[in-house]
Amino acid sequence: MALRSLLAAVAVGGAAAAFSAASSVTSPVTTHLVMPLVRLLDPETAHVMAVRVAASGLLPTTRADAHPSLATTVWGKQFSNPIGLAAGFDKHADCIDAMLGVGFGFVEIGSVTPVAQPGNPKPRVFRLTDDRAVINRYGFNSFGLDYAHDRLSERVADPAARGFQHGIVGVNLGKNKTTVDAADDYVQGINKLGKFADYIVVNISSPNTPGLRSLQGKQELGALIDRVLVARDRLGLPSQASAAVRGRVPPLLVKIAPDLTPADKEDIASVLMDKKVDGLIVSNTTISRPATLKSPASLTQETGGLSGAPLRQLATETVRDMYTLTQGRLPIIGVGGVSTGDDAFEKILAGASLVQLYSSIVYDGPGIVPKIQSRLAELLAENSFTSVSDAVGAEHRGFRRK
Ligand SMILES: Cc1cc2nc3c(=O)[nH]c(=O)nc-3n(C[C@H](O)[C@H](O)[C@H](O)COP(=O)(O)O)c2cc1C
Repeated sequence: MALRSLLAAVAVGGAAAAFSAASSVTSPVTTHLVMPLVRLLDPETAHVMAVRVAASGLLPTTRADAHPSLATTVWGKQFSNPIGLAAGFDKHADCIDAMLGVGFGFVEIGSVTPVAQPGNPKPRVFRLTDDRAVINRYGFNSFGLDYAHDRLSERVADPAARGFQHGIVGVNLGKNKTTVDAADDYVQGINKLGKFADYIVVNISSPNTPGLRSLQGKQELGALIDRVLVARDRLGLPSQASAAVRGRVPPLLVKIAPDLTPADKEDIASVLMDKKVDGLIVSNTTISRPATLKSPASLTQETGGLSGAPLRQLATETVRDMYTLTQGRLPIIGVGGVSTGDDAFEKILAGASLVQLYSSIVYDGPGIVPKIQSRLAELLAENSFTSVSDAVGAEHRGFRRK
């Protein structure tokens, strides 16, 4: 344990120094020195360390708007590029600006639960290096709404002092493990953090909270959405909102699993369309274990949600299905196994208006963000798309890649 702490301390210092010495996030120092060093640590220590390094302002920055062709508007909001950081990395809203600074067009914090809770016993995160995948069963370890509220208010209260970066911030909400009335937890999240959110996510698809995914069923989902929409709509009322926000409310999105039956997907699509939910995030981690996994069974059989490369295809198929079922009328954030511009383009063609990633930064570091952007801009041009929105769902209109 002492050795691990020492290694962590050395790595934090080393990574910080190396990151700050590196002239850009794509620098060979980052790729060939910092990332292998980070991977010497157990995955959770590496995660905590990465958030600390980012929060201390030591990550180099790169422009999120380097490719004007990637600028896109969704829900009337302007994204400098469509590549975002998925929920689960910045669970407590500690390093939003640093992550916007490495080039993400948007950052989603959370999942945040109402009351602080420790999550599952450790170890609870596993790297499947041979598969470029991760299994996690964190179980919503959260510092709670008060902590996230303080971080989000500090950020807007004194932007100059904290290296404020412009960009879209999503707030992903979860429920406490022992809460029986799940809707009440999401309502509390909206009441407390809604005013800071460019969009709000109701996460009902993490596999590590008992009973959570059953909220995706038709009856439960309908009842849940009714209650969260009332809370969301109240954010725009004069008593709740500042003058600037009055009358406007953040879009409400639902994040779903990739392990749904065709009937589940139809039910979800019909509820979301009926209730006029604003969007979907597709998808969370999978409880399945594809037969193609190469890592030792001792790792692949760990309980939890699988993410990264082996999830890519399943997540894209789920995007495709949900785009069809919602007739392209509900913006979708596509997530699962994205590590290249080609992967992002695949999600967009299948129906995603925006794309997120998490696991690939575990393997490649933040330097992949500008690489994904450059390649995506190239692919749009090569395929004669004038904008991201032009390409969204194009395969449903007969488009085939050159
Ligand atoms: C370690 C870890 C923790 C995660 N925690 C959350 C979470 O708290 N809330 C959530 O909605 N998704 C969470 N996710 C899921 C990601 O947001 C994403 O949906 C999934 O990992 C697929 O994307 P990827 O293949 O790019 O990682 C987590 C993923 C990982 C790997």
